[in-house]
Amino acid sequence: MALYSLINKGIIDSMKGVVKAGKESRVYWAKGSSGEDLAVKIFLTSSMEFKKSMLQYIHGDPRFSVGKNYRKIVYTWAQKEYRNLSEARIAGVPVPKPICAYQNILVMEFIGEDGVPAPLLKDLPEPDEGLYQQILNAIKNLYLNARLVHADLSEYNIMVYDGKAYLIDFGQAVPREHPMSWEFLKRDVVNILRFFKKAGLNVPEEEAVLEWLKK
Ligand SMILES: Nc1ncnc2c1ncn2[C@@H]1O[C@H](COP(=O)(O)OP(=O)(O)O)[C@@H](O)[C@H]1O
Ligand SMILES: [Mg+2]
Repeated sequence: MALYSLINKGIIDSMKGVVKAGKESRVYWAKGSSGEDLAVKIFLTSSMEFKKSMLQYIHGDPRFSVGKNYRKIVYTWAQKEYRNLSEARIAGVPVPKPICAYQNILVMEFIGEDGVPAPLLKDLPEPDEGLYQQILNAIKNLYLNARLVHADLSEYNIMVYDGKAYLIDFGQAVPREHPMSWEFLKRDVVNILRFFKKAGLNVPEEEAVLEWLKK
């Protein structure tokens, strides 16, 4: 099992508990070899949403064995999230520091304290102007300097720790060259504007924000 390899390699010292169990992945709190807190995201190789649609293209094709091929796609997904986090971080975008990706497991910095994850943006009692600015700057930095679009950004994929907004959940992030990247960027921006508008902030029009993002 991949987890044992990470323990043998000394990347993970011990697993502490589940932080969040989702449909496609589980996030655990773990300790690293120097006692530091880690977040370990394990992609479930049997239950990714797209499995069903993918299977109909694999079943009946004698060149592939289903298990092996599907696993590979999940491994690629973990690698992709790791790569996206690395590129975002190099550009100075606030994201959890990626530590490694191995098979279906992504290890990263834990955002929170003593195994308690920092709250998501959606759970804050009073999201303020400062957070709004931080998030828009992060989207812009991601786009202009990391040349990536998150593509699933919303109040559900932003953690707030010590007043600082961290973008998380980067598996689906795409480079600007992706044909849909501009559409994804618009959707991300719309989600953030909608959230802060609902929270009572005076937000600009989507068009104005998109113009500003390109500069
Ligand atoms: N680096 C991290 N540190 C602490 N908690 C995290 C971290 N990454 C994710 N989490 C927690 O796990 C949840 C799910 O993670 P996420 O990457 O959004 O996966 P998904 O939405 O695909 O299940 C987040 O909402 C957050 O509560
Ligand atoms: Mg998420």
